[in-house]
Amino acid sequence: MARMRRKEYFKVILSCLVVFWFICIQGLHAVDTLTVGQTMRDWEFLESPNKLFRLLFSSPYVANVRYLGIQYMNDRLAGIKFVWVANIRIPLTGTSGILNITVDGNLVLTDSNGIFVTISAGQPAISNNTSATLHDSGNLVLRSGERILWQSFDYPFDTWLPGMKIGMFDLNTGQPQHRLLTSFVSQQVPTPGTFTFGVDPNNTKQLVIWQRGILYWWSGIWNGYNFSYFPYSKFNFSYFSNASDSYFTYTINDNNLSSWIEMGSSGNIRIVEMTSDRLPSFTDTYCGVTDKLEYRSAAGCAVIETSNCKSGDVFNQTPGQMNSWNFLYNFSLGIADCKEICSRNCSCNAYGSASSNGSGCKFSDVQRLNFSEEEVFYIRNGRVEATGKPY
Ligand SMILES: *[C@@H]1O[C@H](CO)[C@@H](O)[C@H](O)[C@H]1NC(C)=O
Ligand SMILES: *[C@@H]1O[C@H](CO)[C@@H](O)[C@H](O)[C@H]1NC(C)=O
Ligand SMILES: *[C@@H]1O[C@H](CO)[C@@H](O)[C@H](O)[C@H]1NC(C)=O
Ligand SMILES: *[C@@H]1O[C@H](CO)[C@@H](O)[C@H](O)[C@H]1NC(C)=O
Ligand SMILES: *[C@@H]1O[C@H](CO)[C@@H](O)[C@H](O)[C@H]1NC(C)=O
Ligand SMILES: *[C@@H]1O[C@H](CO)[C@@H](O)[C@H](O)[C@H]1NC(C)=O
Ligand SMILES: *[C@@H]1O[C@H](CO)[C@@H](O)[C@H](O)[C@H]1NC(C)=O
Ligand SMILES: *[C@@H]1O[C@H](CO)[C@@H](O)[C@H](O)[C@H]1NC(C)=O
Ligand SMILES: *[C@@H]1O[C@H](CO)[C@@H](O)[C@H](O)[C@H]1NC(C)=O
Ligand SMILES: *[C@@H]1O[C@H](CO)[C@@H](O)[C@H](O)[C@H]1NC(C)=O
Ligand SMILES: *[C@@H]1O[C@H](CO)[C@@H](O)[C@H](O)[C@H]1NC(C)=O
Ligand SMILES: *[C@@H]1O[C@H](CO)[C@@H](O)[C@H](O)[C@H]1NC(C)=O
Repeated sequence: MARMRRKEYFKVILSCLVVFWFICIQGLHAVDTLTVGQTMRDWEFLESPNKLFRLLFSSPYVANVRYLGIQYMNDRLAGIKFVWVANIRIPLTGTSGILNITVDGNLVLTDSNGIFVTISAGQPAISNNTSATLHDSGNLVLRSGERILWQSFDYPFDTWLPGMKIGMFDLNTGQPQHRLLTSFVSQQVPTPGTFTFGVDPNNTKQLVIWQRGILYWWSGIWNGYNFSYFPYSKFNFSYFSNASDSYFTYTINDNNLSSWIEMGSSGNIRIVEMTSDRLPSFTDTYCGVTDKLEYRSAAGCAVIETSNCKSGDVFNQTPGQMNSWNFLYNFSLGIADCKEICSRNCSCNAYGSASSNGSGCKFSDVQRLNFSEEEVFYIRNGRVEATGKPY
């Protein structure tokens, strides 16, 4: 009897486990679409059909400062970085934010205090059948029936994914839109920084980078196939122009998304490539200088009269220690702004970031420094003379 009862017990426990397992699997089954009436909580996410991208809540920059963004997912790493962020200017605190679609068809982010941010600036929905779908391209698309109300590809930050259009729109209306990439202040500070990347408004069919509005780099004129100073054959660019729109877009030659373009904080164009096992590799092209040999040319770089000191002054990166800095605590400034300010001032011999997160500036007129691995900064025409011992 006792044996029988124990068997029954096991049966019951086993069926319970099966039911739990089933619920778990159902619960973990990721969806790519959020519809009216559904909410996405902090621990939930949308996943594109082939698991290439996720829309999720995360704190990738500063602990406890929460963003809703789209991440490229990777088999080995949890995710790389946000390729798009919904609430860059209005981060959430805490983990109780929710995303939902209101009946009038807007994507709305709500924090624990009930303060909400409308992410989509779309037209009102024509039906209540509104849904937001995350695609394998990395595009989050809000639709009402067949009509696209809003899509994340129209609101880029520093990342240009294949299929995104960068250029000018609504030119035949009173309010043309210049759709640009904007660099972050630094990798840790995701607020709009020093550089913008877009198309030349003079209609010369080329890509241009501006540093605080001043021409910094251009790609060379599009010849129908490629650009002179942007020779990455992996990117198949195309140009479109009509009376209202003028833009560039690109595709990647292989089927899978494996590469994209970012506007870096120090004026670098960053090419992100996924290796076959979806690990990222980075190539940074600075204006005229790169960490890889495939592109080593000063062509395409604007010559700007920045210095009233000797022309040809360069700033070299060095590790060191200095105790006589003048700090500029403006955390909208990135390292390229610091260089600009220092190079214009002949008594400025060195510059660096004011904070460890790469924002703000500091300057020095000191000509000698103490060697140390403590921090990294940049010195004019740097010939490093170490005084004293390493710390
Ligand atoms: C979406 O969130 C707002 C704000 O929290 C709330 O008023 C609304 O009822 C929610 N809608 C749905 C469909 O859950
Ligand atoms: C949505 O629309 C359907 C028909 O179009 C209607 O029956 C339903 O009540 C609507 N739901 C809401 C919440 O408005
Ligand atoms: C809602 O829209 C989707 C496409 O976005 C469509 O497949 C579906 O049939 C629509 N449902 C209704 C009830 O209109
Ligand atoms: C960067 O560091 C500065 C100084 O430490 C701080 O005031 C600022 O809030 C930080 N910014 C971010 C986004 O962490
Ligand atoms: C476009 O034209 C303006 C005015 O002529 C000029 O200042 C600017 O440098 C030009 N842009 C490019 C990319 O050549
Ligand atoms: C650009 O395209 C032309 C014509 O197809 C080709 O001859 C040239 O090698 C290409 N240049 C680069 C840098 O890819
Ligand atoms: C320009 O092309 C776009 C498609 O990219 C189209 O929606 C728009 O109506 C066209 N505008 C004009 C004025 O032809
Ligand atoms: C480049 O893209 C165009 C259309 O956007 C396509 O017709 C062409 O075949 C592509 N070229 C390559 C080499 O993939
Ligand atoms: C594309 O991705 C699939 C699945 O991840 C993989 O099997 C295939 O080899 C990839 N193709 C290329 C050209 O990388
Ligand atoms: C180098 O270190 C010495 C001893 O700590 C100090 O007196 C001197 O001011 C330092 N020099 C600089 C440039 O920081
Ligand atoms: C900080 O720097 C930004 C970018 O140059 C500038 O727009 C802003 O006015 C500066 N803020 C202050 C307080 O000087
Ligand atoms: C130039 O730089 C020096 C050294 O950092 C500083 O003391 C001085 O105030 C700066 N001058 C101007 C006009 O900014």
